[in-house]
Amino acid sequence: MIKVGIIGVGGISQVAHIPNFQKIENVKVEAICDINEEKLNYVAEKFNIPKKFTDWEKMIEENLDAVVICSPNVYHAIQAIKSMENGKHVLCEKPICLTVEEAENIFKTVEKTKKVFMGAFPRRFLGETIILKKLVEDGFFGEIYYLKASYLRRRGIPGLGTWFTSKKLAGGGPMMDVGVHMIDMVLYIAGLTEPKIVFGSTFEKFKDKAVDGGWPPIDTRKGDKPIGKMEVEDLATGFVKFSNGAVLFVEASWAGNSEVGLKGSLFGTKAGAQLPDPIESKNPVRIYAETNGVISDIIPEIPKMDSYFEEVKHFIECIIEGKEPITKKEEIISVVKIIEGIYKSAEKNQPIEY
Ligand SMILES: NC(=O)c1ccc[n+]([C@@H]2O[C@H](COP(=O)([O-])OP(=O)(O)OC[C@H]3O[C@@H](n4cnc5c(N)ncnc54)[C@H](O)[C@@H]3O)[C@@H](O)[C@H]2O)c1
Repeated sequence: MIKVGIIGVGGISQVAHIPNFQKIENVKVEAICDINEEKLNYVAEKFNIPKKFTDWEKMIEENLDAVVICSPNVYHAIQAIKSMENGKHVLCEKPICLTVEEAENIFKTVEKTKKVFMGAFPRRFLGETIILKKLVEDGFFGEIYYLKASYLRRRGIPGLGTWFTSKKLAGGGPMMDVGVHMIDMVLYIAGLTEPKIVFGSTFEKFKDKAVDGGWPPIDTRKGDKPIGKMEVEDLATGFVKFSNGAVLFVEASWAGNSEVGLKGSLFGTKAGAQLPDPIESKNPVRIYAETNGVISDIIPEIPKMDSYFEEVKHFIECIIEGKEPITKKEEIISVVKIIEGIYKSAEKNQPIEY
């Protein structure tokens, strides 16, 4: 039996991780921790979880195999490091941490403790990611030299006034929160790491007309007391040049007068691809190819995957089989570098070189 403890039992824990771990044979959600006691009691009762803690440092001393970190972003690195030092495998929510220094410390601890450390990037388990990654590895796209990643909302700030909009607790706004998903997805598909130059800008144009976007789901917010302000950007954009000359353009917003949705593109020397928003079923993944000299579009059949379930299943397999997790050190550090670089560049008004 693999015993799991979860730190932070808000939206992502209640909607995805707890029910998904409870579907896997020989896995038990043994303990949960949250500083909000009303929510802690509600979740423990709803999901029948035996042990409850308000102090995560106490929970990680328990007899657990793994800790899942679903707390506000600022705590991820310290909770991951201390959990591994206490002999626990770790699944850590995105954004893995706030700075490159924190990311390096996490991986020093992985090397020292030999524990499984996996980043929670569910988009890696989507059908389109799996199919495109395989085609990239088979050389179908040739050399990939330009990538686009976009996650835009028209009006939708998560938990307005909660930790999500606190600079100290979240570390940043939409680029940290949702841009991270698309950056990780396109870089993973393209097999690209080593960002060298990052240039970014952030905007705060919707502070006075900010609208709560409904995440975390209202029924998961028991006892939350949003008292904070909107201290982070509502839109961020970045331009990244990699050591091999490839370029990424990324944009992420919680509010803006723009089209909405998640999109990605890959431009390769032999073929390219467009990743449309998965909820737009009429707009499939499209591969821009050339077949026997004829410019042609290919619409691949994409398998439907339950990406959040596949994510936790992979984590458990890594623990049981001693496999290396899908999220590699260089990949995680590259994504953290890009986001850190965008914020630093926006603040200093100059490109950041790594
Ligand atoms: N992978 C995804 O698709 C996805 C989706 C949503 C959120 N997330 C990530 O998951 C994390 C949690 O997000 P959420 O939407 O569940 O937020 P949430 O606000 O619903 O839940 C966070 C919980 O952490 C608790 N908490 C705060 N400080 C704590 C502490 N020191 N110790 C223990 N608990 C503490 C809060 O009381 C709250 O219940 C964030 O890092 C977020 O970026 C990932």
